[in-house]
Amino acid sequence: MRKRSNANFVVPYLKKGSTFDEEEVSVIRSILQNKETLACGVEREAFEREFADFLGIKYAFSLTNCTVALEFATHLIRLEDGDEVIATPFSYQATVQPLLDKNVTVKFCDIDPNSLCADVGSIEKLITPKTKAVYITHYGGHMVDMDPLMELANKHAFIVVEDCAHSLGTSYKGKKSGSTAHISCFSFHSMKNISTLGEGGMIAFNNDQWAKVIYNIRRNEPDAIFASRNVLFGPYSLEPYEFYTHEKNAFTEDCLKIMHRGTNANLSEVCAAVGRVQLKKLKNFNRCRQNIASYLDNKLSQVEELRLQQVPGHITHSYHLYTVFIHPEFNIDRNALAEYLNQNGVEIVLRYFPIHLLPEWRLKGGKYGQCPTTEYIWFTELLNLPIYPALIESQLDYTVEKIIQGLEHCRQRKVSYS
Ligand SMILES: Cc1ncc(COP(=O)(O)O)c(C=O)c1O
Repeated sequence: MRKRSNANFVVPYLKKGSTFDEEEVSVIRSILQNKETLACGVEREAFEREFADFLGIKYAFSLTNCTVALEFATHLIRLEDGDEVIATPFSYQATVQPLLDKNVTVKFCDIDPNSLCADVGSIEKLITPKTKAVYITHYGGHMVDMDPLMELANKHAFIVVEDCAHSLGTSYKGKKSGSTAHISCFSFHSMKNISTLGEGGMIAFNNDQWAKVIYNIRRNEPDAIFASRNVLFGPYSLEPYEFYTHEKNAFTEDCLKIMHRGTNANLSEVCAAVGRVQLKKLKNFNRCRQNIASYLDNKLSQVEELRLQQVPGHITHSYHLYTVFIHPEFNIDRNALAEYLNQNGVEIVLRYFPIHLLPEWRLKGGKYGQCPTTEYIWFTELLNLPIYPALIESQLDYTVEKIIQGLEHCRQRKVSYS
């Protein structure tokens, strides 16, 4: 596998999506030096409360990462054999990975060529009476058109799982991403708009029943059906021992069925404490990204070979990714441009290869041609430029300069080939 260091780039792709200062260092120091636990303590509880309040919803459970959050979300919706799920093909593979284990049909919808989020019209065409859930991603921090999607969800009684890994702080008609659907999943990975020391995640919803399930399965307790027993076996009494913490451990319960075996997905106290500090800074981080995006928009709008992403007035974009598109009229080879930028100090990483064309999804029936807009955007038009709060103006100017030179270079190459 090809791996390279980005140390030599003038404008490296992001390694850290947020910044850290003395405030984070000081909370870490204080937790390490006080007498409290490092796991499952007051910091985690406070982080979850503050996060839920930030979204304006009832429950937020912190987890070790967003991949686990998505796995848990998939458990909560209780898919059965033969059910159908509709999903965006334009996301990181973790969004739909848990569905690979299920005996369900996953239908990939197409995306909107501007927002790169699932196109609600395309979702609508795929709905059948068997549709149990829809998985969407607010790609790059733009948001899915949630009102018509939730209207469909209400009409056809399916669950909407929102992958908000890119969209913390984004809003749609004044509502935060993560509060507009049934279940939302967040990532605090190093590259995300805030981070809990490199890895971390959150699952959020309003459902009391789901809260009980997540409370258990993230601490190695199964989601299972238990029944009280009144027949003794072994040298035990029916009175649960107080120091056993759970009644089942005193042989007072039988297990009739296991739905999820449980796992350890607890976020540590240190990570949660850093998450609390980062959450307070999120508005500034996102403002910084918005300023970078409008600076680039302003400069790149002069470049006729590029199409810029448009953001409707009712959406606040959190610019986890900054995306521009090669204008189809100009027939520029996107790969050649990306290679030129890589060779000339601007590190380009494209996100994301269409999920339905990954080998594991082709095994399940995914085919080229199934999602034409997604494929066209990915293979021909898409260019993600570095964006993160630590970028400085001279790096943005450098990026723009190299894009203009790169387009010129690609045009010349085209002429010399013909
Ligand atoms: C859209 C999306 N969903 C899910 C994930 C998985 O997040 P994590 O790394 O926290 O497991 C990512 C990570 O890059 C992502 O970009």
